[in-house]
Amino acid sequence: PIILIVNGPNLNLLGTRQPELYGHETLADVEASARTHAASLGLEIEFQQSNHEGDLVDWIQGARQRCAGIVINAGAYTHTSVAILDALLAVQVPAVEVHLSHIHQREEFRHHSFVSKAAKGMICGFGSHGYILALDALARLIRGS
Ligand code: DQA
Repeated sequence: PIILIVNGPNLNLLGTRQPELYGHETLADVEASARTHAASLGLEIEFQQSNHEGDLVDWIQGARQRCAGIVINAGAYTHTSVAILDALLAVQVPAVEVHLSHIHQREEFRHHSFVSKAAKGMICGFGSHGYILALDALARLIRGS
């Protein structure tokens, strides 16, 4: 089974971007550990990042009838994008939302997530380990279905 991992805007800067909030690991580090962990669960990953909302919509649409699950950290689009919510609702692929930081301990505008309306669940506040937890959650969901 293939799991799509989608990362939104500014996550390409991971490692140098506000490391006190987001950690010192780069996105390439996150990808490498996600790939290794996925393999241990018998899963394959497709790992994507873009600063452009439409790219995220295209990748989500492309997961339809092809991917067994989606891990999504939509970055700031989490809090603004009805288009990403609609894409997740359209494809009917189980999705787990991830945030590196604990969004509920931060500014009020980060407390609301459009992605949460379509996600099976949400993991936040555990840094890059959140991606590993999300893969574990999806592996269980896929096996149970
Ligand atoms: C984030 C949280 C968002 O509020 C922020 O805009 C990001 C990263 C996180 O992973 O903690 O870009 O999604």
